[in-house]
Amino acid sequence: MVASKESKWAVITGASDGIGRALVHELGNQGYNVLAVGRSAAKLEALKSEYKGLGELQAHTMDFNKEGSGEDLQGLVADKAVELFIPAAGLGSSGNFVDLPLDTELEMVDVNCRAVVEQTQWFAQKFERQKRGTLILFSSLLGTAGSGTSAVYAATKNFIHAFAEGLRVELKPAGVKVLTICPGPTNSGFAQASQMTYSGADSASDVAKGIVKTIGKNGTIYPAARARFLGFTLSTVPRSIRVAILTNVMRGLQSHK
Ligand SMILES: NC(=O)c1ccc[n+]([C@@H]2O[C@H](COP(=O)([O-])OP(=O)(O)OC[C@H]3O[C@@H](n4cnc5c(N)ncnc54)[C@H](OP(=O)(O)O)[C@@H]3O)[C@@H](O)[C@H]2O)c1
Repeated sequence: MVASKESKWAVITGASDGIGRALVHELGNQGYNVLAVGRSAAKLEALKSEYKGLGELQAHTMDFNKEGSGEDLQGLVADKAVELFIPAAGLGSSGNFVDLPLDTELEMVDVNCRAVVEQTQWFAQKFERQKRGTLILFSSLLGTAGSGTSAVYAATKNFIHAFAEGLRVELKPAGVKVLTICPGPTNSGFAQASQMTYSGADSASDVAKGIVKTIGKNGTIYPAARARFLGFTLSTVPRSIRVAILTNVMRGLQSHK
């Protein structure tokens, strides 16, 4: 067990589905108390009924498609000894930018970037003061270059990638860790919500296990087998080739309507 059940809290957004939900179970099994934030009350109820972790689980609904989620989160955790902040909430889309509804693309910028920045500052300040804590930020394989058919989504993940790199440097003197997580295609609610079909993807549970193993480290993590293979392959080629490979992969994942 890596944490004492009495004191250490992990705050996870996007906890009602996919990788966030799998992380609730993994960290709960490790003895962390978990504050799980999701948008859907029904999914959070299901999470609570299936949860068998050692640590306490509290669940709250919030919609990040509007300003103020940072303050709302602070209100929930002010009295808690938080050691992990994991903003896993996110959404994607699939198709050429010119054909996609602009409101969904803008929602992606809000949820994937603005909300993460808004929420992370308070946790970063808290962790810096207590000289302890880990921020676990979600980039993606698509956070390593641009990609056709996911232009805005890839841009949001490049944003998080760079944000995490900068924070890692700033918070290092205080001993605060910043992990950049780069999942590859992962079976979760994400593909369906983004009009994509995955085959041979990593499981959300394997991705969560891979993430939990790296707590205490610093750096960029490719958390499961497919992500590691693709991440290594992409790292060996120039950026322009990376864009071509990623576009090809994303075109292959697009659902044919
Ligand atoms: N799955 C992949 O292939 C993949 C690959 C690379 C990176 N990632 C990244 O990994 C992270 C987790 O993705 P996932 O695969 O677990 O996705 P997922 O299964 O679709 O879950 C997304 C989570 O985000 C929440 N969410 C979405 N919009 C929200 C909003 N407006 N306000 C509050 N919460 C909202 C959802 O809440 P509700 O369900 O309650 O609505 C859900 O809990 C994301 O940052 C994603 O970009 C995923």
